[in-house]
Order: sequence, then structure tokens, then C-alpha cells
Amino acid sequence: MGYDEIYGRSQEDPEGFWADAAAAIDWDKTWDSVLDSSAAPIYRWFAGAELNTCHNALDRHVAAGRGDHTALIYDSPVTGTKARFSYAELTDQVARFAGALASQGVGRGDTVIIYMPMIPQTVIGMLACARLGAIHSVVFGGFAAKELATRINDARPKAILTASCGIEGAKVIPYKPLLDEALTLASHQPEHCIVFQREQCEAAMTEGRDVDWEAQVSDAEPADCVSVAATDPLYILYTSGTTGIPKGVVRDHGGHAVALAWSMKHVYGVEPGDVFWAASDVGWVVGHSYIVYGPLLYGCTTVLYEGKPVGTPDPGAFWRVISEYGVDVMFTAPTAFRAIKREDPDGTYIGQYDLSKLRALFLAGERCDPDTLLWAQEKLGIPVIDHWWQTETGWPIAANCLGIEELPVRPGSPTRAVPGYDVRILGEDGQELPDGEIGSIMIRLPLPPGTLATLWQNDERFVEAYLSTHEGWYLTGDAGYRDEDAYLWIMSRIDDIINTAGHRLSTGGMEEVLSAHPDVAEAAVIGAADELKGELPVGLVVLKAGVTHTPEDIKADLVRLVREKVGPVASFKKVVIVDRLPKTRSGKVLRGTMRKIADGKDFNVPATIDDPAILGEIETALGEIGYGRR
Ligand code: COA
Ligand code: AMP
Repeated sequence: MGYDEIYGRSQEDPEGFWADAAAAIDWDKTWDSVLDSSAAPIYRWFAGAELNTCHNALDRHVAAGRGDHTALIYDSPVTGTKARFSYAELTDQVARFAGALASQGVGRGDTVIIYMPMIPQTVIGMLACARLGAIHSVVFGGFAAKELATRINDARPKAILTASCGIEGAKVIPYKPLLDEALTLASHQPEHCIVFQREQCEAAMTEGRDVDWEAQVSDAEPADCVSVAATDPLYILYTSGTTGIPKGVVRDHGGHAVALAWSMKHVYGVEPGDVFWAASDVGWVVGHSYIVYGPLLYGCTTVLYEGKPVGTPDPGAFWRVISEYGVDVMFTAPTAFRAIKREDPDGTYIGQYDLSKLRALFLAGERCDPDTLLWAQEKLGIPVIDHWWQTETGWPIAANCLGIEELPVRPGSPTRAVPGYDVRILGEDGQELPDGEIGSIMIRLPLPPGTLATLWQNDERFVEAYLSTHEGWYLTGDAGYRDEDAYLWIMSRIDDIINTAGHRLSTGGMEEVLSAHPDVAEAAVIGAADELKGELPVGLVVLKAGVTHTPEDIKADLVRLVREKVGPVASFKKVVIVDRLPKTRSGKVLRGTMRKIADGKDFNVPATIDDPAILGEIETALGEIGYGRR
């Protein structure tokens, strides 16, 4: 069957379509209904069914005689470590760690925060939670203590899993002091923190609260899989909203397992036994779906890489991993390829490795510029697939589904809607726009299985943020258009979210930090184009009258504060002081116009602007730090 036929069936008979896909999963109890619409606009897939995600990701492959097959390869150039775990070994280690968690009182429905680097214990921790029916929430290591505290307060974890440190290139980053600081800021306190001591740095332990990972495991009895409802939460993953308060995206067990297993075959075109490598971080959705759950649910070998595309040790790092482990399909963010291209524009490192097994490269996480896509295509000589998705959906919304039918690539477009998603471009009045016209990209409800079930303990915010713009539609927050062949073109966000090196950040959150500085009267943060990272945040601040500190001191202070409060991942290094910000007559800051100025693009002076002369001042100020028409 080709794309049109499969896509058509997913639209005409979604319940039949997903019930068929569900045959790939082991269920402890079958569903009462494939799709429960009784609480629309909140939908539930596979209501009444029971299963265990960890069983589906591990135990069942062992039971099927594939215990010796490699489940996980850990490759860490930053520590000089390589390790392989067979399905049998990983099952055993997860069962034991689940036993350790259970002995700390963690059980079905409890939440567990995981603040850990890219090491096997992180994957083991996630799967152990799934085994017990506990809900994990992984927090990316590049976030600061305050961000971690916000997540601790919202998720209210019974336990927190951490490691003594992360390693970023040549830097050892102690994680435990960040966790300790977060716990002094948080109002909620976990009963225990389970700490994995890495040899690169030893964490100080707080007696009575912190327990040693290895000691817990050595005393633990392996725990069995607990059957949970298909509609129970598997995990919470916080993502940037438009304010400083992140949104807790909730993923359920049943729909998630079905959709991810289906996507491995149909989107990525892999088979059980293939080696799949997502060069991302477990702290992001890509890591959840395609380092951990997707490949394991489908019986592939997954690669956990603790390194960078460049500098660990050189721009040949990716090619080394691909050749060493025989990677069949790879997935990363365009920014990683931009980094490689910058250091090795001719691709000379590529020729040093045998990449003959690599069948396809998938890119996502940010808009993929055609230059990068074409460079990768030319140097690798394989299909390079730009695909579009978000933390909320958990798996691709639009892609060139290699496992169904390879469609012609149009650089700059992630191709067509993936089966299960009815993607349309709507105007402000909620009417569908003609082909080629830019509007708000929306998805008709119900969303397919595996997408966000709700926001953690906040159905109201879920409905308000995503489902209430136009009745019956999910708001993606992206703007773009559809061409005459139903290819989608994702152009920009409609909100204040920016994408820096594939990391999703809220400019609103950074503005809150800048505005809280005692010398700052008001502030705006915009995302300006950057050759390497896609977008970089730039702060524009207006100072209060009569401040005594020098502008240079204030700027340095602001950079430090964003690093401290949001995290190094924000890459916030550019800030300018201006006399005033351009606003509409009703007081709305014209961020879009400032962004165009920063990027040196043509812009119209908005008719509603309060004082057009300010735009010239902004252009001069941004020009002084290297932005604008150069
Ligand atoms: N723990 C602690 N700190 C972290 C971190 C982590 N897990 N991840 C990033 N940081 C820090 C970095 O060390 C850096 O700190 P610095 O300001 O002291 O140098 C800062 O956060 C910014 O990180 P990053 O934006 O990743 O920049 P970089 O210069 O270290 O690397 C790339 C640039 C392009 C090589 C890198 O961003 C990359 O490989 N990106 C791939 C994209 C990706 O994985 N995206 C995830 C979604 S698919
Ligand atoms: P995240 O939730 O971090 O995965 O970020 C999701 C957002 O990243 C999307 O809403 C888009 O704005 C952007 N994005 C992800 N993939 C693509 C892509 N292939 N093309 C354009 N934008 C993308």
C-alpha cells in the first residue's frame, strides 16, 4: 500500500486503523473502546485496556527468544567508555532497579523526577518507573536549579533520581549541587534522592534523604511489571510555554506504545534488529521517544551517545559511531549538522569511515534550512528527511514516511502529514485557507494515539492553551502553509517560543528574569537568526532612571542571571540597553518587528506603532552588537 491509501484509511477509519496497529503490542487486557470520546475535546485511546510499557519494551523480546540481542549501546567519548546491554541484561538491570525504587516506597501512580546525564542508568531509571507504573519526569541537565525547582513543585515527586555529574565536552558539570539548590528553592520535598556516583566527581550526600544508587540496587529484589491502564500516565515532560511556567505534557501508556511501534516501521522504515540512533538527549522528547521507547518497543538496538557532534574529539564523531555500530537509521537536529559542516565543510572526515549500512538520516527539532539538508544529502548519498513534530505530539506530525513510500524531497518542507494527523491551515476566522497561504497550522481532533493526553493535573490549561482557539482543532503554535501537493511548509512560531540549537525555549521566561533585575524598567527578548544554533536569544532592556551601575556591569549581571535562573542551555549572551521599546498604541511590544530588524530583513512599520522613530534607535542598538543589515 502506498502513502495515499494508508493515509486515507487513517482518516476514514481511525479506530480500525489504530486497532490494527495495536496488534504489535502485548496487552494484559483488551480495550473497551479504541477511542473514548465521552470527555471531548479530551480524548482517550484504548480506554479500558491494560498493559505494561516496560514489558513491551524489554521482557517480551526476551520471552520471544531475543534476549541475547543488543538492546542498548552506550558510547561515551567524554569518559572513554563503551558498553553493550543485551535485552536480557537490560531487563535484569531494570527489574533490579525497579525493586530498589519499590523498596523506597515508589509504586503505581507515584511521580519520580529524573535529573540525569546521558548514561545507561537514566534509561534504566525511566524503564524501572514504567515497570512499576510510576510516572517519570525527566528534566534536561542544561536547566538551572530554579527551573528544576519549578518542575519539582509541579510534579511533586516521591523520589528524585540523579547522578553526581554530567559531562559536557571537556567540562564536568556537578549535578548534585544543582539538585540540592533546587530543593532549597522548592516547596515540595521528595522522600528520597537516589544518587548515582560517577567516578568523575563525587556528590556529597544529605543523610536521611540521599541514598546511593549502587547500594540500593545491590540489596534489591527484582520487581515484576505492574499492569496499568492504557490511559494511565507513563511520563510527564515539561516544555516551554509562552510564560516562565512550563507545561507538563502527559503521555499515556497504551496510545504511546502503539504509536511509537507503528512509527518505527512506517515513518523510519526500520525492522526489529536494526540499529537506530537518535543523537539527542534523553531530557528532550526526541530522547524519550527515539532513544528509549520507540526503538525498544520495536525490538531495535538503540544507541545512547554521551558526546557532541564536534569536539568529542572532532567533526568525524558521528561517522565513527555510525560505522562502529552499523547504524541503519540516524536521527538528529539540523544544528548538529550545521556544527559539523562548519568545521568540516568538505566532509573529509566522512570518507574515513564505512557508512555503508546507513540508510537514512532524519532531522527535526527546528526548521531545517535547505543548505544543511542538501549538504547532508550530497555528502552522505542517502535520503535526508526533514520531519516536523513537537514535545506535545511525541512523534512526527509530518514526514516523508520511508517505511510506507519515499516521496520526492522538497528542501524546506517536512513533506506531508503522517497518517493519523489531519493537518490544515486555518485563518483567524477558523476557515481553511487556500493552498499557498500562510496561516495557523492546526490539527483536527482527535489527535492520534501517543500525542499528549493532557497537561499534568491541569485539564483546564490543556484545553485553554491548545484546544480552544477553534472548536474541534488542536493549535500547534506553528505558522505555515500547505502547497498544492499537500506538502507542509513550517515557517515560524505564532508565540514567543524560540528554538536554540534544537532546544525549545520561552523568551517570556527570559524576559521575566531580566525584568526582575532591580535596575531594569522593562525588557524584551527576541530570537535572532544564528548560523549555527538556528536562533539565539537577544535581550533589549530599558533601565530605570537614576541607576548607578555601569551599563557593562548591568549587562554582565543580566547574562549571569539568565544562566543561573533558566540555565546555560538558553545560550543567552547578547543584551543591549535601549532608551525605550517599540510598542503599539495599546502597549504591546513589537517583538516581531525587532526580530526582523535584527535579522536585517525588510519590515513594514506597523500602522499601530506608537512612535515610528523608535525603530531607528533599535536598529542602531542592535547594529552595535552585530545584528541588522551588515
Ligand atoms: N547539562 C549541562 N549543561 C548543558 C547540557 C546538559 N545536558 N546541555 C547543554 N549544556 C550547556 C552547554 O555546556 C553550554 O554551556 P556553555 O554556555 O558553558 O558553553 C550551553 O548549555 C549551551 O549548550 P548548546 O546549545 O548545546 O551549545 P554547545 O555549544 O555546547 O553545542 C551544538 C552546540 C550544536 C554542538 C549542540 O547544541 C548540539 O549538538 N545540538 C544537537 C541538538 C540536539 O541534540 N537537540 C535536541 C533536540 S533533537
Ligand atoms: P519541541 O517541542 O522542542 O520538539 O519543539 C517543537 C517546535 O520545534 C515545533 O513546534 C516547531 O516550531 C519546531 N520544529 C520542530 N521540527 C521542525 C521542523 N522539521 N521544521 C520546522 N520547525 C520544526
